[in-house]
Amino acid sequence: MSALFTPLPLRELEIRNRIFVSPMCQYSAIDGIANDWHLVHLGARAVGGAGLVMIEATGVSPEGRITPACMGLWSDAHALALAPIARFIKQQGAVAAIQLAHAGRKASTDLPWKGGKPLSGGQAWVTQAPSPLPFGAGYSTPHALTAAEIDAVAQQFTDATERALAAGFEVIELHMAHGYLLHEFLSPLTNRRSDKYGGTLENRLRLPLRIAREVRNLWPAKWPVFVRISATDWMPDGWDLPQSIELARRLKDLGIDFIDCSSGGLVPEAKVPAAPGFQTPFATAIRREVGITTGAVGLITDPVQAEHIVGTGLADVVLLAREFLRDPYWPLHAAQRLGVDLAWPDQYLRAKPT
Ligand SMILES: Cc1cc2nc3c(=O)[nH]c(=O)nc-3n(C[C@H](O)[C@H](O)[C@H](O)COP(=O)(O)O)c2cc1C
Repeated sequence: MSALFTPLPLRELEIRNRIFVSPMCQYSAIDGIANDWHLVHLGARAVGGAGLVMIEATGVSPEGRITPACMGLWSDAHALALAPIARFIKQQGAVAAIQLAHAGRKASTDLPWKGGKPLSGGQAWVTQAPSPLPFGAGYSTPHALTAAEIDAVAQQFTDATERALAAGFEVIELHMAHGYLLHEFLSPLTNRRSDKYGGTLENRLRLPLRIAREVRNLWPAKWPVFVRISATDWMPDGWDLPQSIELARRLKDLGIDFIDCSSGGLVPEAKVPAAPGFQTPFATAIRREVGITTGAVGLITDPVQAEHIVGTGLADVVLLAREFLRDPYWPLHAAQRLGVDLAWPDQYLRAKPT
């Protein structure tokens, strides 16, 4: 029996396998609104057999987008455009999930295939952060959020949560990783505030935990809420695994169901030791220390590697990103490789290898 293809119960959801599509920006929205690209791209991965398909980092406000072409959820029109995508994913037997995000000081950049540099001139907008520290060379100094503006950001997350529910999603993931706004509040390297949101660990946790609590309270009790974290900044004196374990413990107490364990992204000078499965030990440590369901992500590409991670309890789930861009049918192919007889979509049955 394959562990990778064993269903995962989370609250009242039963996810058909342990292979999740990791959130991936497509830089293809117009004014934050999803379109045919998103439906076909995400839909193909649901057809391909993934257990859960996560929609990309979706800005809770216009200024919370990474690029002008990132997805958003700050109006009912945005939810309306997402509804057919959630519906199609569910029709294929996968779980429809969406990642809610605010890009903080890393917002206002150009599309990656146009260089990904900070925008300038009329296209640029003022970025927001806990402290007025630019991300790196060429980035403008972000506006340090006031206490009232922090309240407004928390409200944007809860408003977007209500719209995600209206759009038909079953899982919310809060993006607290990769150097975006909530990670910037967590890490002492980017949070230099002297008010109740900065300084001690307790204070740096305050806004992320508040948003997690408010979103969890809004989201139906029958459905799970995920949080993606960067388990380390890969920097001396930065955010690290012990702090991540404490965060995960607090999130679990609030009713968060799943920690999606990524790393890095906070500062450009961090040296990330990327190698196959290099972030999996974070998922293992948090799972063991906190007793919460975790997902491993990062250079997981091979079915045997994925089966090993889930089968030996290093993590409960694997999330794949770039491999899913290479092969939308990765789960169907992985099942074949692992000797699992997986149901194929009826429309594709005549092509199923026997
Ligand atoms: C095109 C692309 C877009 C991405 N967008 C997001 C995103 O929206 N949210 C996020 O948390 N991570 C994002 N990531 C990171 C991936 O989810 C994943 O964590 C990372 O690529 C490592 O996994 P992999 O080795 O399987 O690609 C993106 C990665 C790629 C390649």
